[in-house]
Amino acid sequence: MKKERGKKKVVDEVKEEEDPPRSAEEAKQAQLIKDITSRCQMYNDDADSTHNFWVTQPMERLSDIQDLSLEDGPIVVTRSEVKQDPYALPSNYEWIDCDLNCDDMSSQVAVMLTQNFTARGYMLRETYSKDFLRWALQPPNYYASWHFGVCVKRSKKLVAFIGGVPSRIRVRGNKEVVNMAAVKILCVHEKLRSQKLGALMMREMNRRVQSQNIWQGIFASGVIVPTPISTYTYWTRILNVKKLLAFGVWMSQSPDGKDMSVETAEKLYKVPGKMVTPGFRKMLPSDVSAVTQLIGQYLSQFEVAEYFTSEQVQHFLLPRQGVIDSYVVVNAVTSSVSDFCSFYTFYYSCESQKEPVKFAYSFYNIATTMPLVQLMMDALAMAKKEKFDTFAAADIMENGIFLEKLKFEATPNRKHLYLYNQRLKTGVKASNVGVVLI
Ligand SMILES: CC(C)(COP(=O)(O)OP(=O)(O)OC[C@H]1O[C@@H](n2cnc3c(N)ncnc32)[C@H](O)[C@@H]1OP(=O)(O)O)[C@@H](O)C(=O)NCCC(=O)NCCS
Repeated sequence: MKKERGKKKVVDEVKEEEDPPRSAEEAKQAQLIKDITSRCQMYNDDADSTHNFWVTQPMERLSDIQDLSLEDGPIVVTRSEVKQDPYALPSNYEWIDCDLNCDDMSSQVAVMLTQNFTARGYMLRETYSKDFLRWALQPPNYYASWHFGVCVKRSKKLVAFIGGVPSRIRVRGNKEVVNMAAVKILCVHEKLRSQKLGALMMREMNRRVQSQNIWQGIFASGVIVPTPISTYTYWTRILNVKKLLAFGVWMSQSPDGKDMSVETAEKLYKVPGKMVTPGFRKMLPSDVSAVTQLIGQYLSQFEVAEYFTSEQVQHFLLPRQGVIDSYVVVNAVTSSVSDFCSFYTFYYSCESQKEPVKFAYSFYNIATTMPLVQLMMDALAMAKKEKFDTFAAADIMENGIFLEKLKFEATPNRKHLYLYNQRLKTGVKASNVGVVLI
């Protein structure tokens, strides 16, 4: 009887909730039910019954979300013994550890990803480099065993790759940060898709993660599986009108869909030739401590956020040519670092063009002494100066403040954010996500 009460659907509770709430406790409960209901409606694609792989994993299901007796926190609490041996692969394949310090191996991974990540037929194809992989996948205390793939036994050709890093994520309600595996890259050769290789790699990654006594994870994906905690949209902002037009990757249209001449478009997307903020300069090694403090304080306002140590700031945020650009604003009188912005570089190849399209992806931005719009206008100006063609940003954190104002346009590219083995019943709004999953 008690169990049945626990399983009562939120939707039924909503029907019973006819009177307006009277006490603060009742108002809180009504809000909880409203949040849960809207999350369920958003992801209601019968996820619980159609996902053969994901239903075997400790992920929140729609039915669990509606069960008011289940609390936020780990989904599976009892830690079973970790399987010692790798999962079995089909007989003509074998697992391969991908040592990204080895030039030959990191090139193989970069080539495999570049050739297979984007499906054929897309105008822009993701291009991976050794430097990017090392930045994304080798932060301090990374586990080399979390970078692995599948190769053909006979030829040793790499046909699949998965890469993750240890991450410390603060989840709403948790006073402590949670040690998680952030899975950043997963790719299976185009010709081997839908044969359960991807699922096998995720299982094997999980085994390797648990071997390090880590039981939670975080990842983002373009597909819906049970059940996202948040969904965000990428927006892009044109920087190089002429090149994008010449490459045929952009039609000369204004944000409201009207055709424009090249001159009008150039005028519309013009950015200042120099920075307007005094004290705006490239981040230096000596800024690491100040930036660690700034970013720690800033991210504490979001419900799900990365927790950066100074070593991670040094790794992820110090500028690296062709990979990550970071800028600080320094107060002329006190010499203190007050504001920060950053973007990472991602290249896309374009069919029949030799030159790639250069994207700046917004990373972390913190404005404490000026409007965020001003800081980001300087970031755009810097990106233009550094010959980026497009600036992209997801509508997470406070990015929504500047996107429309600075002429970004929403794209169809949406990503869903997931926590593995971590329940968060009401999910979070994109503007409450404080982690950028590369
Ligand atoms: C994503 C990818 C690796 C899946 O590999 P695959 O071998 O075709 O997949 P499988 O046949 O093993 O089935 C995959 C399972 O994972 C799910 N899945 C597919 N894409 C996924 C993703 N991006 N994240 C998480 N799960 C995913 C599928 O829904 C399926 O689970 P289900 O049966 O419970 O629904 C493959 O499609 C790919 O390489 N895509 C291009 C790169 C990419 O988009 N990578 C993901 C983002 S980093």
